[in-house]
Amino acid sequence: MCGIVGYVGPREAVGVILDGLRRLEYRGYDSAGVAVLSDGALVRRRTEGKLQNLAASLAQAPLAGRFGVGHTRWATHGRPSEENAHPHTDCSGKLVVVHNGIIENYLPLKARLQAQGHRFVTQTDTEVVAHLVESLYQGSLEQAARAALRELEGMYALVLMHQDEPGLLIGARQGPPMVVGLGQGEHFIASDVPALLAYTRDFVFLDDGEVAVVREGSATISRLDGTPVPQRTQRIAWDPVQAEKGGYRHFMLKEIYEQPRAVRDTLLGRIGLEQGEVHVDELGAAAEALKRVERVTLLACGTSWHAALVGKFLLEQIARVPAEVDYGSEFRYRQPLIGPGTLAVGISQSGETADTLAAFREAVSRGATGVAVCNVQGSMLTREAAGTLLTHAGPEIGVASTKAFTSQLVALGLLALQLGRLKGTLSAEACREHLLGLTRIPHLMEQVLGCEKQAEELARGLVHATDFLYLGRGIHYPIALEGALKMKEISYIHAEGYPAGEMKHGPIALIDERLPVVALLPRGRGRDKMLSNVQEVKARGGRVIAVNAGADDDLRAVLEERDAVLPVPEAEEMWSPLLMTLPLQLLAYHVAVRAGRDVDQPRNLAKSVTVE
Ligand code: AGP
Repeated sequence: MCGIVGYVGPREAVGVILDGLRRLEYRGYDSAGVAVLSDGALVRRRTEGKLQNLAASLAQAPLAGRFGVGHTRWATHGRPSEENAHPHTDCSGKLVVVHNGIIENYLPLKARLQAQGHRFVTQTDTEVVAHLVESLYQGSLEQAARAALRELEGMYALVLMHQDEPGLLIGARQGPPMVVGLGQGEHFIASDVPALLAYTRDFVFLDDGEVAVVREGSATISRLDGTPVPQRTQRIAWDPVQAEKGGYRHFMLKEIYEQPRAVRDTLLGRIGLEQGEVHVDELGAAAEALKRVERVTLLACGTSWHAALVGKFLLEQIARVPAEVDYGSEFRYRQPLIGPGTLAVGISQSGETADTLAAFREAVSRGATGVAVCNVQGSMLTREAAGTLLTHAGPEIGVASTKAFTSQLVALGLLALQLGRLKGTLSAEACREHLLGLTRIPHLMEQVLGCEKQAEELARGLVHATDFLYLGRGIHYPIALEGALKMKEISYIHAEGYPAGEMKHGPIALIDERLPVVALLPRGRGRDKMLSNVQEVKARGGRVIAVNAGADDDLRAVLEERDAVLPVPEAEEMWSPLLMTLPLQLLAYHVAVRAGRDVDQPRNLAKSVTVE
């Protein structure tokens, strides 16, 4: 997904734009560009590759001006190249556009505009917007933009500027996120909050179908037809430092270490230990519906989908409520059976994942009560939900999700506890016991993080592996999936998560001395069977990396010198996934670092997938 920054005010625009794009680079990074009004002329500079290439070009040949837009690209149409990099311009060169999303009807529009004489120079869908607005331009960029937007089909977050209207930015949203940053005598438009935290904490989050008209001293939001929209300013508590690396080599490592704090912050103010109660007060309108909930459907993608799988265990075992899990991208194709007794829980770090939003809307349209578990206040998912359970993980910049994932598990645990108490399926005493176990987790996480050195040493011998198999049972099976996803998405080594009991039904054929097998061994239920699975792997010459809770004498008896044990403290089964996940994050991180991968911005990925 692309990153967009627009600026108008007293500062040099290029500095603000580059600074903002750096904080958005996790959204997409195969090419970048800026356009600035410089001495009355609109000047573009674009480069292929990472943002640093653009910064180097601008350092060599600066662009002065106080009004401009910039963009980092994650290619959808047209290969990554300077020519296809945004901003794109019209025939006159006076109008530019930066865009995130997909214009689905760009081909017929392009054919019509070419027939009118417009000359296209790129393969992108975005260039159509510049020429369409040009074809409708009669001296007012705002009017031409509104007319053009009515003809566009698909998803867009875009910003337009025109040489003949200095100081005017037009922003529009349909799908991918867009925020307006409110400054003193300056205003900003961007794809996401972290881009602008160094300049303001006051934001307006655009809704679908809304247009922002932004000038140095004003920012107004209206519907596409011009109907004014009441100002919805949100003050974002995140401080700019949180969105920085803080001395860590990568954002991902910083965010791995921020997990104890993220869990504490997600618990803060929401638990009553003495009374054995949970206070998730921000559920708003949904709180009343919780009492009538008969079943829960959990909707998410990627790592958030793994959190949903753990959520199923928590909801069924704590609240005794049936729960099912669906991929956002699959849910709406199965004619889901949803009714008024259904609670639809959309789980998303960004709150902008198109597949999750589409599934969530489908569930709500069929009568479900929609609740969001989300890390970004004001994001689309939170604005469409009847109630939101925010994860207070702070900005997560690394593309590979870590602290947001464990915070999602905590939020889902709180939801399960609240649901159990509301429905009377969980006693205050039992709730108190679960809460006690949950409050111990941050401290236990800090202990687990002590295994980093061991994970780093292990990584040395794993960097040449071609495959990994991750095995877990019960509530730890989703953690095996999550560990495998971390490994493959940042090291580019194939990794597969599997329910351990299923290994004998096929994957066991993969086992040989070259295949590292990561096994999750909790205490208590399922441990004996996991030990048997480890023996099955050893009997076929496999190499085992055991993430092991508690004492390991039974395990050591079956392991060899070349195997490894990453220890985690014992915890209540419900909360043990919060601990088991950390060594897997660290292992994937160090294998990726040793493999020389771009850990924070892995190839082909984006932090928030805002296209379906
Ligand atoms: C996780 O490491 C990945 N970056 C990806 O699977 C991510 O979890 C998925 O795209 C969902 O994102 P969301 O939580 O913002 O909806």
